[in-house]
Amino acid sequence: MLIKNVHVDNQAALTDVQIKDGHFSKIAPNLVPDAGEQVIDGQGKVLLPPFVESHIHLDTQLTAGQPRWNESGTLFEGIRIWGERRQELTKQDVKQRALATIRLLVKHGIQHIRSHVDISDPRLTALQALLELKEEVKDQVDIQLVAFPQDGVLTNLQEKGLMEQAIKEGVDVIGGIPHMEFTTEDGWESVHYLTRLAERYDRLVDMHCDEIDDPASRNLEVLAADAYKRGIGDRVTASHATAMGSYNDAYASKLFGLLKRSGMNIVANPLVNVHLGGRFDTYPKRRGLTRIKDLTAAGINVSFGEDDIQDFMNPLGDGNMLDVIMMGVYVDHLMGYHQLQDSFKFVTYNGARTLHIQDQYGIAVGKPANCILLNAPDFYHALNEHREVLYNIRHGKVIAETRPAKTQLYLGF
Ligand code: FE2
Repeated sequence: MLIKNVHVDNQAALTDVQIKDGHFSKIAPNLVPDAGEQVIDGQGKVLLPPFVESHIHLDTQLTAGQPRWNESGTLFEGIRIWGERRQELTKQDVKQRALATIRLLVKHGIQHIRSHVDISDPRLTALQALLELKEEVKDQVDIQLVAFPQDGVLTNLQEKGLMEQAIKEGVDVIGGIPHMEFTTEDGWESVHYLTRLAERYDRLVDMHCDEIDDPASRNLEVLAADAYKRGIGDRVTASHATAMGSYNDAYASKLFGLLKRSGMNIVANPLVNVHLGGRFDTYPKRRGLTRIKDLTAAGINVSFGEDDIQDFMNPLGDGNMLDVIMMGVYVDHLMGYHQLQDSFKFVTYNGARTLHIQDQYGIAVGKPANCILLNAPDFYHALNEHREVLYNIRHGKVIAETRPAKTQLYLGF
């Protein structure tokens, strides 16, 4: 396959990209197609590596209204509703909804997904369904599964055993939720316990960490210190870290030093964080988001996730990462022209770093030929005008193609 006239990675220069045997073979202007080679005319549009979904829960998606709507919009009501809904889980139910979600994601240019999966259910129904599905769809999308102890690994007395079982069944990543444990001390202990497990079983770490507007919720420093001392920082991620939006600046400054030294990753979920955050405030009302701009300026890796699509936490969403970026740049004041042009990195290269897949990711000769063609001359226009992913290409084969809708105006001017 030869893709002509594209702006690779949103760079100003136009070039061509050739693919052979599922890998990028040449990147240079004016390449000539081989006899019979498929040619895609990029028409001066942007070619990026596929979008990375850094944080989603495939087991809970598309359950909005089941068994009831989250009318208060709080995280706590959401968790209660999920407690009811998960009683009814079957493998088929999980697989059907997860597949429908993956179709939405692929349509919007995603090929790499990190999905948390609730392991509080002693039957581990959702985990088994998603382990099967991961294998079934691996030619089209890569799925990393995170064992997520929704009820707290120390709070729910069965959870430690279930975590070990989930690891043995094949999860890629160890999750956690220290701020939801009974006490501050339990939160810290859960972090130590889970990072020890990760080291023992050679797994990545991604915890829901400090997803609360409480400036006293400081599990992130414990996780970062553990990551640093164990030398596993680039394999460790804190998701949400929204309490950071409420920390005082002196403490945040000290924390940033530790985060930088640890080399760990932060995942923000701008849509869900803005929706669930600030719920206990009257006015002034906090934004409920981590410090995306300051972390990025400090050289700490931040990527974005959707977290929830049409479920008890978030009634909206359709798998389009442009919505996630749009919310993130507005809420955290990343609206400078160059910040907007660069914002694709939150859902591409930064996401690949979070998922620890950098070696196999990116548009470069020798790497797997995974890429997306956006219907825009640069990322600013793609974001601003919600442009389509025209082609989603995996190992040199088109796995999704979108034809833009056309509008005809009858205004007389
Ligand atoms: Fe989450």
